[in-house]
Amino acid sequence: MSRRIGVIGSNMVDLVTYVDRMPEAGETLAAPRFAMGPGGKGANQAVAAAKLGSDVLMVTCVGDDLFGRNTQSSLAAAGIDARHVRIVPGLSSGVAPIFVEPNGENRILIVKGANDALAPEDVENAADDLRGCGLILLQLEVPLRTVYAAIEFGRANKVPVLLNPAPATPGLSMDRIAGVSFFAPNQTELAILTGLPTRTADEAGQAARTLLERGIGAVIVTLGADGALLVEPGGIHHIAPVAVRAVDTTGAGDAFIGAFAHHYVGGHDKLTALRQAARYAADAVTRPGTQNSFATAAEFALFCNTLEGGRS
Ligand code: RIB
Ligand code: NA
Repeated sequence: MSRRIGVIGSNMVDLVTYVDRMPEAGETLAAPRFAMGPGGKGANQAVAAAKLGSDVLMVTCVGDDLFGRNTQSSLAAAGIDARHVRIVPGLSSGVAPIFVEPNGENRILIVKGANDALAPEDVENAADDLRGCGLILLQLEVPLRTVYAAIEFGRANKVPVLLNPAPATPGLSMDRIAGVSFFAPNQTELAILTGLPTRTADEAGQAARTLLERGIGAVIVTLGADGALLVEPGGIHHIAPVAVRAVDTTGAGDAFIGAFAHHYVGGHDKLTALRQAARYAADAVTRPGTQNSFATAAEFALFCNTLEGGRS
């Protein structure tokens, strides 16, 4: 299997305000801190995998503005192949105003901007490069028709596809996504897409199982502080959570998926790759910021050492 990862998806500039509490309607409230940094679910997953050492290609659209140029340089700084980043004149780059509370929990607004221009033609234009990938990562911050085209591309070219159906999009057609190798929702997304309860790990496992009948290879359900599930025709596995003190959980799900992709294309079995992903995401929530909080391979190795040291 090729070790190259192709990400077809979004990028945003995250505008993060750290609040003591959210203001009420009509209230003006001072907040202690603001920070700007690269984000967007697609770029986050690409950067996580690249920081861990994977060879990553990104297909995405930016506006012809300062934010777009920032995104291009942050992708390049992570060593990502950005030849298929398209600049769209007349549209703003994607931005995400984010509010983080003292317990690390976040609220995110997204303005998709140029991400809405990512089209099936962008997938076609990158076809020669995408064909050489061992895994394609998709999310839902770009038009659904582009997501469907990318899934079709993966099927036609025998490139495995992982779809992370985030943010929750009730209009996603489960028929059009049948055949993806991996489907990776969180509990909320899984509930919306299956119409089933997913509050407990048991409920989430049962709901995920119904998706296997629809031709999905494996379902990975992220459970936040409760870890994750791998649901396959052979059974359901629980990936234990890694307990840390959360400072900023923004992009934790993306860190998880990028790290899973890195370890999976690197030849690890799914469960090992998921355990590494849980560790990588746990490490990222201990620091403020989105991509800026994602560890490099060396930093991640140190974090894993402290976990193992703590256990003995
Ligand atoms: O998943 C986290 C991401 O969601 C943020 O980086 C923000 O840009 C939004 O896309
Ligand atoms: Na973080």
